Amino acid sequence: MSNEKRFEFGKNWQLFLESLTQEKIGRSRESLEKLLQVDTLVGKTFIDIGSGSGLFSLSAYNLDAKVTSFDYDEFSVEATKYTREKFANNDVNWTVKQGDALDDKYIESLGKYDIVYSWGVLHHTGSMYKALDNASKCVKNDGTLVVAIYNTQLLTPIWKKIKKFYVNSNFIIKKIMEYFYTLYFAIGLFVVDILRLRNPFNRYSNSMRGMSLYTDVVDWIGGYPFETATPEEIFHFYKDRGFELENMITVGGKMGCNEFVFKKR
Ligand SMILES: C[S@@+](CC[C@H](N)C(=O)[O-])C[C@H]1O[C@@H](n2cnc3c(N)ncnc32)[C@H](O)[C@@H]1O
Repeated sequence: MSNEKRFEFGKNWQLFLESLTQEKIGRSRESLEKLLQVDTLVGKTFIDIGSGSGLFSLSAYNLDAKVTSFDYDEFSVEATKYTREKFANNDVNWTVKQGDALDDKYIESLGKYDIVYSWGVLHHTGSMYKALDNASKCVKNDGTLVVAIYNTQLLTPIWKKIKKFYVNSNFIIKKIMEYFYTLYFAIGLFVVDILRLRNPFNRYSNSMRGMSLYTDVVDWIGGYPFETATPEEIFHFYKDRGFELENMITVGGKMGCNEFVFKKR
């Protein structure tokens, strides 16, 4: 991995878990069902690459998959273990490990899975295309690959500079930036919703995959290393490796993650 200063995702996830409710767990499960277009994963093996809080591993577990989670960051690993203990009673059908998506030997040692899920992770490794390739190596024939990758947009170079500045700043500057951007996004999204005649509070109950605004904002401004891709780039990258696109949810020209579901043929 690159030697540049990195964002410590795991600490943010540990904070998020303090306010994890059954309602958020339910929303996360719904978002997984919607993306995969399933209502059960019984009999399926599922690997969560870069599991973070473990919330989506939990959703797969709740859909009856046999789950493996791994993350590079030791605090994320602890967060996922905490989620497994608290909400899945340390069930043997859910394994949590520490590992690096860029480590070829580690990836090979994991074997193959029916569903490989890596949401918002591979663009933070410092070598996105290698990580995208490694994720594809974990998929069984006829298996499913889910990736979510930051969209390339006009402001991408500016956000990259802001993120780099954040990870290299001291604690006080970081806190100021976190509160400033939380307010910035909260007000911005509120105004957009009002102008579009939508209830601004539905945003928090209907979407966001069970996440919270503050966690998402810290994750966004801190998330460095940071790379992006257009939907076409991801489509062609996997098409060249024998994957067929099954479902896609894009953010249009905006910031955020484009989500892709591929089938390995
Ligand atoms: C934005 S979070 C996403 C967490 C989770 N997938 C979700 O959807 O909520 C990114 C996660 O990827 C992890 N990560 C970053 N680089 C990684 C790598 N090389 N290998 C494995 N995990 C990595 C981070 O530690 C972090 O927990």
